[in-house]
Amino acid sequence: MKKVLVINSSARAHNSQSRKLTEIFVDHWKSIHADPVIHYRELGNTDVPHINQNWIAAAFKPASTRSEAEVEALRTSDIYISELRDADVIVLGSPMYNWSVSSTLKAYIDQILRVNETWKINPGDKQNPYTGLLENKTLFLFLTRGAQGYEKGEYNEHLNFQSNYLRTVFNIIGITNIHVVAVNGVSFDGEKFKESIEASHQNIRELIGMEEN
Ligand SMILES: Cc1cc2nc3c(=O)[nH]c(=O)nc-3n(C[C@H](O)[C@H](O)[C@H](O)COP(=O)(O)O)c2cc1C
Repeated sequence: MKKVLVINSSARAHNSQSRKLTEIFVDHWKSIHADPVIHYRELGNTDVPHINQNWIAAAFKPASTRSEAEVEALRTSDIYISELRDADVIVLGSPMYNWSVSSTLKAYIDQILRVNETWKINPGDKQNPYTGLLENKTLFLFLTRGAQGYEKGEYNEHLNFQSNYLRTVFNIIGITNIHVVAVNGVSFDGEKFKESIEASHQNIRELIGMEEN
């Protein structure tokens, strides 16, 4: 049985479109699996610790040489990474904030990008400088935005620091099988937005079907 990790990063506890998308995923997943294993990681409505002096000192030295304070500084990172290792399927809801991701998601990314834990450096290989250490995982990225036109070739593409950023960091840690569903125009209650929502829900169900076959 595949294990699912659902990560929500919207600061909105209610009426959040990205939470709605992760919910649609979970509902559909439950409808097709007899004993679903689903774990949640809340980011948007909790304090995600920022990395600090002790964190950096600890992360870049062998585990056996870490002081107690350094071990403590990595505790949250250890938990987040073990959740990722444990999961086969990761479902991430990400609202666009100020053309990028929420600050809690950024803090989470800083916690999970750990040298020799989730990625390693390939010295001397300029073409291929990093190897990801998380293998055989599928990521569903559910992106929501107030405005529109952020996709490739569209008028707001140059303002989109969300999609490529997320793809890049997850690729670096070895997660390359990524499905993206984006809902645009959330702030405008127009026909286009409704179409976008309906299409995204259908898209999520189809993507799950594809992965499961
Ligand atoms: C603090 C904040 C910043 C935002 N910045 C942007 C932005 O840069 N571009 C955009 O298109 N929408 C922006 N929005 C709109 C959100 O992306 C939109 O409301 C989306 O639905 C948020 O996801 P959620 O419904 O899961 O909270 C912003 C919203 C908030 C609250």
